[in-house]
Amino acid sequence: MRIAVIGSGHVGLVSGACFAELGHDVILVDNDPVKYEALQRGECPIHEKHVPELFQRHRGTRLQFSDALADSVSKAEAIFIAVGTPPDINGEADLSYVESVAREIASAIKEYKIIVGKSTVPVYTSEWVRKVMLLNGASASLFDVASNPEFLREGTAVTDFLYPDRIVIGTDNDACAERLRLIYQPLLDGSYYRRADSLFPHKVVKSPPPLIVTTAKSAELIKYASNAFLAMKISFINAVAAICESVGADVDQVREGIGSDSRIGRQFLRPGIGYGGSCFPKDLSAYRAVARECGYDFRLLEEVMRINNEQRERFLRKVRSVLWTLKGKRLAVLGLAFKGGTDDVRESPAISVVRSLLDEGCKIQAYDPAAAQNARELLGTQNIQYAASAMEAARDADALLVLTDWEEFRAIDLDRLRELLRYPIVIDGRNMFSPATMAEHGFTYTSVGRGDVHHQAGSAQKSPAAAKKSVDPRPEADAVKAP
Ligand code: UDX
Repeated sequence: MRIAVIGSGHVGLVSGACFAELGHDVILVDNDPVKYEALQRGECPIHEKHVPELFQRHRGTRLQFSDALADSVSKAEAIFIAVGTPPDINGEADLSYVESVAREIASAIKEYKIIVGKSTVPVYTSEWVRKVMLLNGASASLFDVASNPEFLREGTAVTDFLYPDRIVIGTDNDACAERLRLIYQPLLDGSYYRRADSLFPHKVVKSPPPLIVTTAKSAELIKYASNAFLAMKISFINAVAAICESVGADVDQVREGIGSDSRIGRQFLRPGIGYGGSCFPKDLSAYRAVARECGYDFRLLEEVMRINNEQRERFLRKVRSVLWTLKGKRLAVLGLAFKGGTDDVRESPAISVVRSLLDEGCKIQAYDPAAAQNARELLGTQNIQYAASAMEAARDADALLVLTDWEEFRAIDLDRLRELLRYPIVIDGRNMFSPATMAEHGFTYTSVGRGDVHHQAGSAQKSPAAAKKSVDPRPEADAVKAP
């Protein structure tokens, strides 16, 4: 099928590339000349695994780029709206980009098309898109509007698209549902997974994803409800972790005990400094606002957001309790992105914690495998250096803080780390290490919801470099609370 995808952000770009992978002819449209030029040059403007490979396979053949919306719409049978719906000042979704695209589409329609909402939008948006298109001259017989929410996570968006748990289509029109089913047919009948050239030919797919057809309103609510539920799971385990800390229980054991219940599941129960990103924070506040408009006071969501914000404060209190005074302390920070596997720093808890530490007069040496450049645009360079490696960030630091769950951090050489740090102190906001391992390596180690480990000076075999430091004569050395 000929498909136009409007908007080449994370959702639009991944969806367009994956539609091409399924065999469709795709035009990816963006009116931002910078993005459009970069795409034309074959650059991939997002840090997303497998997108470069999909570009390699389909760019210039099944995947074209354009900055002309009307022309792209006239050539397509299905038009996916994947433009941004950022939060406005009162936390509601700003739908002005959706509306302006709907207006432009209306004036370009000369034969039947389906208009599909991919962006995360409040309930009733499909209805509004229809009204706006009729108001702008589109003939009712020439289009149908549907909602097709995405459940893509940054860092795994391509696999989430091609190997989804389910595909949701919301429309009140059977013909429209049938056309959308055809678009996803290679996933729904499993033929994509049997292709020798599929992205993961060896990945076993026991059964193809189900197609869930609902009304447009239900599909719009499914998206918000999914994200709100996932964010609630995270805040729930963070609240449980706080109780574990108070009573001396171990949140890893509690996670295992509750997550092994098939009704609860183990995923999204990782405690830490909380959730961030361009979705959960905005979707929760938008859902809260939509609920209020519909006459329901969804206060549970407020509590989910409150617990999440509280996590950063709790972490900062941990840092103070281990290091005593912060002013002038040199702190190594591992991770600036809102999660591992992405360069995205939007609403990143790591950025929020680093900002607070800078405000308290700390000197930061930060390393992130992908997000340093984006972080620099937010944090600047005053009192913060961006290291090229974890070890470079650790050199001569008074302590090391882990703020993002990058898998590579788990493989750090702990003995080397101990030598480089001025003091063997690690404060782990993502529970990337095990307390027992950190104790064996002679660290003072604190994390989220688990017992702390206290390094007894002289207890572990000191490396010569470390031994020197422990009797460091510098006056500020006393300022660091004896571990
Ligand atoms: C999320 C949803 O998962 C996805 O379905 C939706 O389409 C978009 O929003 P994303 O925000 O990209 O995806 O990443 P996700 O993996 O969900 O992580 C979101 C945040 O929660 C990150 O900051 C992550 O560090 C945090 N998180 C996640 C936890 O703190 N604990 C967990 O157990 C899981």
